[in-house]
Amino acid sequence: MIMRLMADRVNNLGPSVFAEINALARQHQAVNLGQGAPDFDAPPEVIQSAVEALRSGQTAWYAPSIGTPALRLAVAEHARGHYSQLVDPETDVLVVAGASLGVFYAILGLVNPGDEVIVFEPFFDTYVPNIEMAGAVPRYVTLHPPRWAFDPDELAGAFNSRTRAILVNTPHNPTGKVFSQEELALIAELCQRWDAIAIVDEVYEHLLYDGATHVRLATLPGMAERTVTLSSAGKTFGVTGFKIGWCIAPSTLLEGIRRVHEFSMFATAHPLQEAVATALAFPQSFYDDLRAFYGLRRDILLRIMHQAGLEVLLPDQLGAFYLVVDFSRVFSGDDLAFARHLVTAYGVACIPLTPFYSPDHRTEGQKLVRFTFCKREDTLRVAEERLSRLQARG
Ligand SMILES: Cc1ncc(COP(=O)(O)O)c(C=O)c1O
Repeated sequence: MIMRLMADRVNNLGPSVFAEINALARQHQAVNLGQGAPDFDAPPEVIQSAVEALRSGQTAWYAPSIGTPALRLAVAEHARGHYSQLVDPETDVLVVAGASLGVFYAILGLVNPGDEVIVFEPFFDTYVPNIEMAGAVPRYVTLHPPRWAFDPDELAGAFNSRTRAILVNTPHNPTGKVFSQEELALIAELCQRWDAIAIVDEVYEHLLYDGATHVRLATLPGMAERTVTLSSAGKTFGVTGFKIGWCIAPSTLLEGIRRVHEFSMFATAHPLQEAVATALAFPQSFYDDLRAFYGLRRDILLRIMHQAGLEVLLPDQLGAFYLVVDFSRVFSGDDLAFARHLVTAYGVACIPLTPFYSPDHRTEGQKLVRFTFCKREDTLRVAEERLSRLQARG
């Protein structure tokens, strides 16, 4: 008899494309514009706060399961200050180990096996495995290039009596799309019509360009009681390694999510929670500087892409720190072949887009790759120098 090695729920999960590209990038000493992790340090106040918390004599204990009082209060204050959203830090906030775990918790805690969850594709690569591991069924709605709009009729047609949730990510990875007020209003109307909940991943909420505005779906009429908002410190404060995130939801919805957390991870790292509480209290000038900082890098990457002959597919409002490009003018193979070719021949890494699509729609991503600009200026300049040879070679 052959011993079973894997549970069915993970058997079909392919190796992550990030792992392959990162390994290849290391092997070829490539400039890695693949994974969305900064190559610069967090603000010194955040590090200092973590160090002080480590030295505070409180590290022997678990943090409270729902999160430290300081961080829950900071999350509530941040929601009030930025979105005029009233959040009770005692009942409506749960600290989790990153927004992506928060999405998984929300699905496990609120969605039954057999329920449908609507997800926009291309999608962040953990969403569909999360839905499927929970025994639920993904229903796809496509964001169409070049501007990454969705068809309102297609969205309306995806809702039905089995719909339990819609998963929204705004600003969006990989496309950079910031969902407009009108798009979110339609989502809100459909959620209410079909009595569905919204699970919204807002990790890029502060990374916005050219006057783009981020609207928090939970603040639209009728949505407070049916929305779970996830965000984290990773992207905003450049501390992806902390893996500290939070979940904001009315206590009625949060209870299911809280149970998943209490009976699995239980609590996240206390010193890092204290550091994130410090970061969340930064004044508005921090966020203004952040936009200018990333705006400069966005401009550099745009220039690099144009010079290299890569067609940038820009949404109406741009956020996050990625650009998706169509490479078909310079390369005839598929996206994975192009990503491998770019690392081995030019020493620059990017991420192929087909893994962001469901198996039936993979061809949509076949000529597309994603580059990130969450890098130091000198890193981007090296990429510029290397990619300047791309178009000439064709
Ligand atoms: C859309 C999206 N959600 C969540 C995450 C991960 O967030 P965290 O590290 O807080 O889990 C990422 C990281 O790339 C992301 O792009």
